[in-house]
Amino acid sequence: MTSHELREKYLKFFQARGHKVIPSAPLIPEGDSSTLFIGSGMQPLVPYLLGEKHPDGTKLVNSQKSFRAEDIEEVGDNRHTTFFEMLGNWSLGDYWKKDQLAWFFEFLTNKETGVGLPADRLYVSVFVGDPENNIPRDEESPAIWQNLFETGGIPAPIVELITEEKGSEEGMQEGRIFYYGAKKNWWSRTGVPANMPVGEPGGPDSEVFYDFGTPHDPKFGKNCHPNCDCGRFLEIGNSVFMEYVKTERGFEKLKQQNVDFGGGLERLAAASNNDPDIFEVDVLKGVFDALRKNYSWDYGSVEIDQKSRMRIVADHVRAAVFMIGDGVLPSNKERGYVLRRLLRRSIFNAYKFAPGFSNLYPLVRVVTDIYNDAYPELSQQTKKIQEVFEAEEMKFMETLERGEKEIEKRIKEHNGLSGKDAFDLFQTFGYPLELTKEVAESRGYLHIGLLQGFEVELEKYKEKHRKLSQTASSGMFKGGLVDHEPQTIKHHTAHHLLLAALRQVLGSHVLQRGSNVSSERLRIDFSHPEKMTKEQLEQAEKIVNQKISENLEVKREEMPKAEAEKSGALAEFGAKYGEVVSVYSIYNKDGSVFSREFCGGPHVAHTGELGQFKIKKEEAVSAGVRRIKATTI
Ligand code: ALA
Repeated sequence: MTSHELREKYLKFFQARGHKVIPSAPLIPEGDSSTLFIGSGMQPLVPYLLGEKHPDGTKLVNSQKSFRAEDIEEVGDNRHTTFFEMLGNWSLGDYWKKDQLAWFFEFLTNKETGVGLPADRLYVSVFVGDPENNIPRDEESPAIWQNLFETGGIPAPIVELITEEKGSEEGMQEGRIFYYGAKKNWWSRTGVPANMPVGEPGGPDSEVFYDFGTPHDPKFGKNCHPNCDCGRFLEIGNSVFMEYVKTERGFEKLKQQNVDFGGGLERLAAASNNDPDIFEVDVLKGVFDALRKNYSWDYGSVEIDQKSRMRIVADHVRAAVFMIGDGVLPSNKERGYVLRRLLRRSIFNAYKFAPGFSNLYPLVRVVTDIYNDAYPELSQQTKKIQEVFEAEEMKFMETLERGEKEIEKRIKEHNGLSGKDAFDLFQTFGYPLELTKEVAESRGYLHIGLLQGFEVELEKYKEKHRKLSQTASSGMFKGGLVDHEPQTIKHHTAHHLLLAALRQVLGSHVLQRGSNVSSERLRIDFSHPEKMTKEQLEQAEKIVNQKISENLEVKREEMPKAEAEKSGALAEFGAKYGEVVSVYSIYNKDGSVFSREFCGGPHVAHTGELGQFKIKKEEAVSAGVRRIKATTI
């Protein structure tokens, strides 16, 4: 099946079961600082999973453009890509495990309505529970799965593997359904329960794996099991039973039981082809066809390491096209930096594949043509995307040329090449280590000291950078404040009071999403699904003024991050903190904590120093994020 057929079939399948098709959101998240790019279909839907009403109802389906930057280095094998489409269906407090698992099983195995995979090639995993966080073992899903498999005449014994170590030790044991722990069968945007910030939703999940039947590769462990990385099993879909939210008191049930399903479109297509090489799927194969036609690079006949370079080129070019299509431009920070890396890595690998090779921009049209039906807005931007490619290619080629000159100069001066040379070339001239290694090798200067020296220099650089960025981020805390005037400091303390008051009035889902404090006013962005009512605003204002009139103590403490988290201190969503953190608490008269936040200060010593607190404005920033502007005069 082609990925286009598969996408259509999936949307139709769930449409026929009462779901509304919603469009893919752009790759750049709105009002969500948890990731640079959308990495899963649920991300744009977080407010609705938390309880806000979705205008299209309680059953939704789509194919979402996704990008996972953490997989950049993994690309090159037969199954990792950075960009992919995630097929998703959602129940917002509607259907639950029984329907979800039965539908997905039908979609996978039914020849007419779905993909028609042989059911005996499917294996599933379920959640063993997390006693530490009071989250019970999933007993329901294995029973549903067992029934589905056995109705199809396939025995489905249940096996406890729990960890990958145990999996590799004990192997398949003729099981069909496998219990694993939170590392594998718990899903949230930030991973396992311990890594979730307060306010984040998550839940146990159940994954389905396709067995390609390839022999186990012992490099990946003694025995094979569904979560083994040897390539025999490919995860093709994940049903998350999202019914929990992390609070200061631990895990609590959300208002509603949600289903968040996600399955990689290309992975499902690979399973339908019964070919473990995901790059053989039509959308990527189209890029290889063009490479064969235009450059005579033949994916089918090259050696394995050359194959891997071609995969990097195809994946990165496709990802870069989508990114630029959604408005990202190359730069040296954040999204722009990721895009620059993609472009440079693809050019570099093309250059390594075929020396003298210089431009990839003709591939842009190949990609936009392939996606013309599903994403017509990309085709309309072909020219603009090509221009970005071309400009970046030229810059990088110049970098390579300058690097080549520099390396020759250094070889002459030093009569060889040191690790420091290699590092300088990389750091100052942007010249890739891999090329330095090759030049060194061809001249007989490649020695272990060069690589070790490079590592030492890199570590030194990272350490320096870490210190610098720590300084910068403590500066940034203060930098949350525009200046250190007394009025700005008062607004900063009022900001803490307001956040605590909002959580009292609206609930603990309220988290800070952004802030800005000046002598003029304070501004807070926070997660909340809907417009605040007049009564809620008055109530929040009243609480803050009450706390000001009580003249409460504001106290700074330093503590290990884990302890601060345990004490319920609020962190700004998505912010990174060091091991020891500074925490500001505002204590009620009875000694209980009214407000406690990770914060670098400065603050007033007592709330009585603030004047009358007044909310000036409440407005929307983006889906699920509100903004309040307020003053204390
Ligand atoms: N959100 C789930 C995932 O990305 C479905 O795996």
